[in-house]
Amino acid sequence: MSCRIAVIGTGYVGLTTGACLAHLGHTVVCADIDADKIAKLRDGIIPIVELGLADLVADGMASGRLSFVMGSTEAAKNCDIAFLCVPTPQGEDGSADLSYVQRAAEEISAVLPFEAIVVNKSTVPVGSTKVVEKALKRPDVKVVSNPEFLREGSAVQDFLKPDRVVVGSDDQAAAMKVASLYDGLSTRVIITDPASAETIKYAANAFLATKLSFINAIAAICEGVGADINDVVVGIGSDKRIGENFLRPGPGWGGSCFPKDSRALIKIAEDADYSFDLLKGVITVNDQQLDRVADKIRLAAGGDLSGKIVAVWGLTFKAGTDDLRDSPAIAIIERLTKLGARVQAYDPTVNVIRPGLPNDLVIAASSDEATSRADVLAVLTEWDDFKWISPSTIATEMTGKQIVDARNLLDRKDWERAGFTYQGIGR
Ligand SMILES: NC(=O)c1ccc[n+]([C@@H]2O[C@H](COP(=O)([O-])OP(=O)(O)OC[C@H]3O[C@@H](n4cnc5c(N)ncnc54)[C@H](O)[C@@H]3O)[C@@H](O)[C@H]2O)c1
Repeated sequence: MSCRIAVIGTGYVGLTTGACLAHLGHTVVCADIDADKIAKLRDGIIPIVELGLADLVADGMASGRLSFVMGSTEAAKNCDIAFLCVPTPQGEDGSADLSYVQRAAEEISAVLPFEAIVVNKSTVPVGSTKVVEKALKRPDVKVVSNPEFLREGSAVQDFLKPDRVVVGSDDQAAAMKVASLYDGLSTRVIITDPASAETIKYAANAFLATKLSFINAIAAICEGVGADINDVVVGIGSDKRIGENFLRPGPGWGGSCFPKDSRALIKIAEDADYSFDLLKGVITVNDQQLDRVADKIRLAAGGDLSGKIVAVWGLTFKAGTDDLRDSPAIAIIERLTKLGARVQAYDPTVNVIRPGLPNDLVIAASSDEATSRADVLAVLTEWDDFKWISPSTIATEMTGKQIVDARNLLDRKDWERAGFTYQGIGR
């Protein structure tokens, strides 16, 4: 059955949700408070980098099922279901800041049609359905939790081919109505109480962060004992109980979700009288990983970075997105500049200094330009394009012949043949 849907917040999650639900046959109005974003979307310009999203948005707009408006009330006034997809940044004490969610709920309260449903798609702590109910002050409106598991870079694919859909509500009819929105997908729908749905989201992210910190710790051991992490990953990942996914070593994890969500879960646990020491350790290992990579670069530059030029390939927190939020690349660059390095960075999605980037960072227009006169080259994001760059061309650009490949992306032998000293992670 086709529904009228309002999506409040048209960012990475909201835009993907809106475009995909329109693709599934629903009529969707996406709202934002960012006038520039809405103007671009109305002109058919997608403000983020996300594979397949532009086509889906264009199809939705052409079919008349997808539109964009300024402000939440404009979208919510004629909907059956309103999705809250607004930010939940980290608060001062580590907990999720619910103020955007509360504000959005307060805004739409007066205009929501009788017996509409409000869905929390933002990542929110346990008890947030109650927080939204309070903000709405609408006893006829049910609030349902429907956490989102998409990954930036493959968001459309993840939304349309999810491993599962989780719906949490104390009201069975509301839960079934939200679940039915996904009828067009062949996936498992898990219906729970709200607290379980909210816990599932944080537990999933915490587990994935744990896997990444675990493999980075094993990579550090590999370096010490002369083992090769790539072989170790194949060896342990072939065990079906473990699996190879999320076992790629790297510069440390980051992005718009794992850092804030892991801290929020520690706070949720604390409020429930449990000290989540395991997850605290996962964060410590991640901080150590950022330090270890910065230190590898320092050592590659001869031990002292003052006055040295470091070329960086990749700024986003992962390949396939333009998102710089909590990117490990930025955390490492900050460490390098503190030690006196001049950093020249190239990223295919970044051509000017954007909020979140250090002001003294030099943005290069190409991978070659970034390496000009550099002492060390550091690969910090796994953009596929970097794999095909000719080492001999880069050799002529650089002063030093040192590479720290924090993503184990490049072909070590090719670079060594071109005269480079190559260091990866865990090998
Ligand atoms: N980005 C991801 O990969 C991802 C994945 C799963 C879950 N989440 C969660 O989804 C939520 C949204 O994340 P995101 O990455 O899409 O954030 P985002 O910052 O990209 O987008 C949020 C949007 O909400 C808008 N907004 C804020 N207040 C508003 C209001 N009152 N009315 C209308 N629009 C408003 C902002 O202008 C912004 O465009 C967060 O809770 C996040 O943790 C994110």
